[in-house]
This record gives sequence, C-alpha cells and structure tokens, in this order.
Amino acid sequence: MHQYMAQRVHGFGTSIFSEMSALALEHQAINLSQGFPDFAGPAHVKQAAIDAILADHNQYAPSPGVPALRQAVVDTYRSAYGLAASANEVTITCGATEALFATILAVVNPGDEVILFEPAYDSYAPGVIMAGGVPRYVRLDPPQAESDDAAWTFDPEALRAAFGPKTRAIIVNTPHNPTGKVFSRAELALIAELCREHDVIAIADEVYDRMIYVGEHLPLATLPGMWERTVTINSTGKTFSMTGWKIGYTIAPPPLTDAIRRVHQFSTFAIATPFQHAMAAALNAALHSSYYAELLDFYRQRRDLLLDVLRDVGFAVVPPAGTYFVMVDLRDWGFATDVEFCRHLTTEIGVAAIPPSAFYVEPTTAPLMARFCFAKQIATLQAAAERLQKLAARQPSRAGEHA
Ligand SMILES: Cc1ncc(COP(=O)(O)O)c(C=O)c1O
Repeated sequence: MHQYMAQRVHGFGTSIFSEMSALALEHQAINLSQGFPDFAGPAHVKQAAIDAILADHNQYAPSPGVPALRQAVVDTYRSAYGLAASANEVTITCGATEALFATILAVVNPGDEVILFEPAYDSYAPGVIMAGGVPRYVRLDPPQAESDDAAWTFDPEALRAAFGPKTRAIIVNTPHNPTGKVFSRAELALIAELCREHDVIAIADEVYDRMIYVGEHLPLATLPGMWERTVTINSTGKTFSMTGWKIGYTIAPPPLTDAIRRVHQFSTFAIATPFQHAMAAALNAALHSSYYAELLDFYRQRRDLLLDVLRDVGFAVVPPAGTYFVMVDLRDWGFATDVEFCRHLTTEIGVAAIPPSAFYVEPTTAPLMARFCFAKQIATLQAAAERLQKLAARQPSRAGEHA
C-alpha cells in the first residue's frame, strides 16, 4: 500500500469491471458486460441539451438542482406511483452513484450497520465503509428451476436476524442488478415492517424502475410509514439511455433531504446545468407520451432475443423480471469460477460478460453464474449470438456426445 494512500481506501482495488472492459477491448469482444446502451439516446433530449447550452444555461445550477427538473421528478413520481413529494424534497446528483454516496455519508455514523442484499451493486459497500459503517449481508438465492416466474428469494428469518440495535439503514435495489429480481409486495412489506420496528432508514435504489417485464414496481417510499424514513434514488441515465450525462436524484422528506444536501454541497455542489434542463424536458415530454411504454417494448424485445440466444447455446437462464441483465447458470460447464468463464468467453469466443462474484463480499461464495447485458442494438445481440454458437460444443449434454 502506498504511503500516500489513506487507510479508508486500502480495501478498494480496481474492479473486475475495469479488467473485463480492458480485456474486451484488447480482444475486440462484443461487449455484453457493462450496463450501458450501445445506441443513441432520444434525439429530442439531445436537442434540448443543445438548446440549453445555446440559451446560455451554462453557469452553476442551484446546488439542489434546477427547479424545473426537480418539479419534473415530482410530477413523474406522482404520475407513475402516486407519490406526493414536493420539489423541495428532490436533490439532483451526479448520477445515482453520487445519490447513493451522499445519502450514505449523510445518515450513517461510524459503527452503524447497513444491511445489503447480496449480490450487491458494487458501490454500496465501499460507500458504507468510507462512512465508517459496517455492511451486513442478507443473501438472495437463485431459483432452483427455470421458469418465467422463477425468482431469486431471501430467507425472511435471515433478514429479520440482520436487524438489530446497530442497524441504521438498509439498501434495497429493485429491480435488482445483477439478478433481474423485482422485489414483491410481500417482500417489501416485510422490509418496511422491520424498518419501522427498528427505526431504520431505507435507501431505495430504483434506477431500473421503467424496465419491468414481470410484475410491477412498487416504490418502498409509498408503503405505510415508509415515506418519512426512505430515500428514493433514481437516474435519468438509465431511463433516457444517456448514462454519460450522469443526472440522478434523491427524493426524501425534509430532514433526510437536508442531510443529503449537506454532503452534496461540499462534494459536487451542483450538477451540469444544461443537462439538467434537458432532462427536465425529457421527463416532461415522457409524461404526455408513450415514451415509457415504447422503452419497455424495446427492452422486452431484446430480453426475449437474448434469452433465446442463451438457451439455444445450452445455458439454463433465469429470465429477469426487471433490469436489462440476464444471469445464466454455469454449473456443469467445466469452469472453476465465473471469472475463468468470463475470461474464456472474452478471449476465445469474443463476447464479454460480467462475473457476478464481483457483487459478493466473499467472491468464492457466489453461485457459478455470468451476467449478460441486453441494452444493446439488435445487430450487436445477433453478432454475439453467432459467436456464442462456438460455445455450444462445450454444452454439458453435447460435450458428452463428442467425448
Ligand atoms: C443498481 C444500480 N445503482 C446505481 C447505478 C449507478 O447509476 P448512475 O450511472 O446514474 O450513477 C447503477 C448503474 O449501473 C446500477 O446498476
């Protein structure tokens, strides 16, 4: 460890995501690993950003965010979920990433425990640790059999046991990356009950709320007794296919919003002004159009295509209820770890995927699976399909035939 490196960052190496991306580039692999679209975002949203720049919305925005965007967020959540928030309860952040980090720093004291469902999105634990908190993990287990409503589940007793006097917060990501799980009403009700019982803050990461193929999205903040203890986090990058703009937000009642803004004002202060104006236009236009329905159709088509491709190769898949990721089962494929499989896939087959063990505190305990992203053009998925055919020869059942 270099002498100039602070202790709080000692535990954080370069993530497997960076390694896989570099490998994909080196081998010109078709990249189904990272979770971002390989197609253009909507033209009218890009035009709105250009217009905002030309209209000279180019100085610092108000620290909490451009009022028109905060109001558009309020109108969006009211229209979609009946959530009655005000613009004073919305804070615009540098993507959901800053929203998560600012929220954690704003509410977690040193020694506090924060419950995470594992597999956990990779920024959660580092945020908790940098705040001096302690992550407590509750496992999500993959379904035993493949079926369209097969869901990852958690043991309610394990969740109950994770709550205790030191619990300060729980992070709930629904729809869930990487599993594609959409938490059910009953599961969310249990989480809410435990939060109320133990006076715990809920951090609801809902960045994939518009990508739900089975079931429905239920914001945790709308459950009884939850509004006052919930920070809802979302990102326009996912919804409008422009992850590089990094326009995210929090919705939270005044005491929590006040705490979040205290971090936000000294970390980023304010977010790029013209992109905030453009996202206000995007959200407002979507309110009065079929944008979200079309987005869902668009992703459903790609989901179904990728599921067909992966099944055709011989993988057992867990059809995702939400998000733009699919997990496949690697047991019996002859790879010791998911990292070994993903390296092979990238270097020998020419397709990149993510090893989900990166989402586990103890990677060796992860189920043997791989995550593919379908936020890609049909042509990209078809090109990947062609390459993946080379894998079919290794398929467990067919491998026997060739032996
Ligand atoms: C579950 C989850 N939360 C947060 C983020 C980060 O979002 P943003 O790009 O807006 O910072 C991602 C991005 O992949 C994600 O999958």
